[in-house]
Amino acid sequence: MNVPLLDLKRQHATIREEIEQVIREVVESQRFIKGPKVVELEERIAAYCGSKRAVGMASGTDALLLSLMAYGVGRGDEVITTPYTFFATAGSIARLGAVPVFVDIERTTYNIDPRLIEAAVTPRTKAIIPVHLYGQCADMDPLMEVADKHGLVVIEDACQSIGSEYKGRRAGSIGHAGCFSFFPSKNLGAYGDAGMVTTDDGAIADALVSLREHGMKDGYFHATVGINSRLDALQAAVLLVKLKRLDAWSDGRSRNAERYNRRFAGSAVGAPHREPHCRHIYNQYMVRVSERDALEAHLKGKGIGCALYYPLPLHLQECFRYLGYKKGGLPESEAAARETISIPVFTELAEEELDYVATTILDFCGRG
Ligand SMILES: Cc1ncc(COP(=O)(O)O)c(C=O)c1O
Repeated sequence: MNVPLLDLKRQHATIREEIEQVIREVVESQRFIKGPKVVELEERIAAYCGSKRAVGMASGTDALLLSLMAYGVGRGDEVITTPYTFFATAGSIARLGAVPVFVDIERTTYNIDPRLIEAAVTPRTKAIIPVHLYGQCADMDPLMEVADKHGLVVIEDACQSIGSEYKGRRAGSIGHAGCFSFFPSKNLGAYGDAGMVTTDDGAIADALVSLREHGMKDGYFHATVGINSRLDALQAAVLLVKLKRLDAWSDGRSRNAERYNRRFAGSAVGAPHREPHCRHIYNQYMVRVSERDALEAHLKGKGIGCALYYPLPLHLQECFRYLGYKKGGLPESEAAARETISIPVFTELAEEELDYVATTILDFCGRG
């Protein structure tokens, strides 16, 4: 049996007619930039996340970059974040000449450990970017406490976590701003690149609207320098169709995750830990095993899709060598990078496929 890590064709088959119709509408309108679909999506995402405003961007990376710019983060400023994330989180900081300051993660959730943040605060610290990794929110209450105490901006990297909840609050509505990616593999995925920022701060939202169009205000007048990062009308139209199904799709992932959890209970396979006060949307289902590289080869040999997210934490990446971190410096992030692997959890996964994946992993671990 061949089981892909993610099969978006199965999802598309369930919405094909509607998608083709809305794409046709946008093409017939010949309005590809801005327009009613983008405005409608911004309003719906703001409402969905429990934020006052949402501003569409060309990608999650730009959502992070422009949020930092809107809050005035620049050369020499320090931004505290996790090294165990997709590159864009720290890349956006470094692109602005600011300094990523890496703080280790919790062993259980893989998210930034809020108890370690205060020791990393200096007079140059301007912001914190917690990442809600794999679909579960970072521990935001203690993190916000440190931020409030030191007057720091909190930009949530919610790129993997649309709809996830922390003590009843939605990802992206807890800090000062939230960044989302609609990369196709996300729970809410576009048919190309797209992203968004949520915030309750009207002045920041207005700044983002300007920054995504070269810092333009009232026509061709520029008080600041921005970039071109508009959300495409075609992507907005696709995302509006998919947003209606998002909760059902995320619930399907949770159902699959629970099925795996039951299969792995009592075994040597480390299943993801869900905090009881969190809604986990399982953008990824990570298992933790001591022989991770051998398991990866075994799964591939058995026709099972899997991936390493992420094989090298950011503090050890070549491009960040100038920051001076050493191997062993952030041990939980390094251990997670060595011991975890992502397995198929997408909604449309058939029960037999899931059982085949679980049995293959359990057989492998039983051998050792
Ligand atoms: C945690 C995280 N941050 C940022 C991004 C960047 O988003 P995008 O690929 O839309 O630029 C992603 C998406 O891959 C992500 O997973």
